[in-house]
Amino acid sequence: MRKTAVALSKGGVGKTTTAVNLAAGLAARGQRVLLIDSDTQGQAARASGCQAAAGLAEVTTAEVAPPQATLQARENLWLLAGGRSLAGLKRDIARRDFGGEQAVTEALAPLEGQYDTVILDTAPGWDTLTINVLFYASEVLWRPFRWRS
Ligand SMILES: Nc1ncnc2c1ncn2[C@@H]1O[C@H](COP(=O)(O)OP(=O)(O)OP(=O)(O)O)[C@@H](O)[C@H]1O
Ligand SMILES: [Mg+2]
Repeated sequence: MRKTAVALSKGGVGKTTTAVNLAAGLAARGQRVLLIDSDTQGQAARASGCQAAAGLAEVTTAEVAPPQATLQARENLWLLAGGRSLAGLKRDIARRDFGGEQAVTEALAPLEGQYDTVILDTAPGWDTLTINVLFYASEVLWRPFRWRS
């Protein structure tokens, strides 16, 4: 299972646009794709046309099991949403004395092998959650498309 994080510390450079369209493009080509949003802005759900009651925050705190939190956005494409509840998760991770950087990896372990590709959208900056995503991911797409202004 390929796990690609779209990450760059600068804001507004097209991370979410890249993550959502890459996920949709791979799904259209027949891959089973899970798009995970690790940003409190929760834009990936909006861009995918989904309204999620639970997402990455609830899965990582073990309030909801991963299969119950993943929403099907279209054929071959599933979403684990981000949003404001991730702010509480960041506090929870920061309070852990040991292994906080592995919280997401541990919580997502039951999903191993269920998808061909996992695409992770990240927030700008390098917060505890982005560090968690980098521990989970197998590769980083760190320079999304540039455009002329
Ligand atoms: N290739 C592109 N060409 C022109 N505009 C783009 C391109 N990609 C994204 N945009 C626009 O740039 C803006 C920021 O894009 P996006 O939200 O994807 O950035 P982001 O890096 O996820 O932002 P943030 O750091 O706040 O999460 C949006 O209005 C989006 O429509
Ligand atoms: Mg974004």
